Amino acid sequence: RQLVPPSLSAKVEGSFAYLTVRDRLPTILTRVIDTIHRNKNKFFEEFGEEGVQAEKRTIGFLSKLRNELLTDKPILVLCDGLEDTDSWNQYLQRQQRLLGERDPVSWFKSSWLYIECYMYRRIQEAIWLNPPISDFDVFNESKTQSFFESQQAVISLCTYLQGFNRNMDDLSETQLMEQFHKLLQVSLWGNRCDLSISAGMENSQKASPIDSLSDLKSFILVDDSNMVWSALTSAQRPGEDGKTTPGRVDIVLDNAGFELVTDLVLANFLVSAGLAREVRFHGKSIPWFVSDVTAHDFQWTIRQTLAANHKWMSKSGVQWQSYVREGVWSYHDHPFWTMPHEYCDMAGDAPDLYATLQGADLILFKGDLNYRKLTGDREWDHMVPFDRALRGFGPAPLCSLRTLKANIQVGLQPGQGENLNTQDPSWMTSGKYAVVQFSSPHRE
Ligand code: F6P
Ligand code: MG
Repeated sequence: RQLVPPSLSAKVEGSFAYLTVRDRLPTILTRVIDTIHRNKNKFFEEFGEEGVQAEKRTIGFLSKLRNELLTDKPILVLCDGLEDTDSWNQYLQRQQRLLGERDPVSWFKSSWLYIECYMYRRIQEAIWLNPPISDFDVFNESKTQSFFESQQAVISLCTYLQGFNRNMDDLSETQLMEQFHKLLQVSLWGNRCDLSISAGMENSQKASPIDSLSDLKSFILVDDSNMVWSALTSAQRPGEDGKTTPGRVDIVLDNAGFELVTDLVLANFLVSAGLAREVRFHGKSIPWFVSDVTAHDFQWTIRQTLAANHKWMSKSGVQWQSYVREGVWSYHDHPFWTMPHEYCDMAGDAPDLYATLQGADLILFKGDLNYRKLTGDREWDHMVPFDRALRGFGPAPLCSLRTLKANIQVGLQPGQGENLNTQDPSWMTSGKYAVVQFSSPHRE
């Protein structure tokens, strides 16, 4: 076994992990508490006095959680008896073994990836243990607001999509490839709009994304999009009727709001251009990292698009709805996506999910958190190849579409990281830079 570098951790004072745990996470918790409090009347209308009591108890749980975080208390076992509770508690033991027996696993001492995921899981525990409000999505308001704030950008993107959908048959192979590159980049930059980096504050897309692509090009530090194109075209097989059948594309979603729309537009293009026969979307089964997509967000976004008072936007929604009805598109969730594991653990710890992903011809992993999990959120040297940082994870050809929001980046050219450090010291965390990084498993 090759030695792997340590995990990023808040124990390094002044690091981005440290600042996240010290400042950003408590702010997010305060906003959650505030949201629940503001919904007090709604809980009363729906559930009467029982709803108000549940609201009070939940706020009590979350205030205690905030205090544990701020005072670096030991991480507690979960006790809500959900499907994944045992796995979480086993993972805590694993963290304890890594740390040795002297210190307990705590917020500022263990791995950043683990404790950040744990905070979102504890929010879920607080809600879950307090029926009748256990279905409440504490981030729903922020997600819907961010969707509406991006309305103009959504309209221009849908108008663009419908424009070339009408002319699809006249497009040459080269033009098709150009459109693909454009929409892949739109989906890439869509990842700027997440509500975790902004600690829940407004972070929507205002301008038309298509117009700014060429200005943004120089901010893509690694661009493997040609390999993504090759993976798609080489997945096309001759069907029984003599026509070619394209492959299956899986998209591991990140944020709701504008980013999700960019993913749906890309998926629509892949299907209508004959580059994918089926698209499977993977989302979260609980509210996660503020803006991540749940099944409800997925359906809601399609319904909103469909009901929009704009011809091309609603036409896009109608198309998406029928893809879902026909099974060309499908939404899936799995508890593993809301666990703290590095993806190199997936084959062992979630073999069913790994086997499902093996059926894809291409997997697109959206966003920063997926990148952290792909690379194990470790202190890798910038020049370590992406393939090596994946540590054997490769259910199918895969590509990470990520804007940089955490201090980890692999697969750079010699000197590239040093140059960036001098030019722009916050290059890894500002969301200004991005990567399109591809890896293909070595098939026997
Ligand atoms: O809170 C930190 C973080 O994990 C960052 O890495 C990133 O800012 C955000 O949360 C999640 O980003 P994304 O939505 O792109 O996964
Ligand atoms: Mg996210």
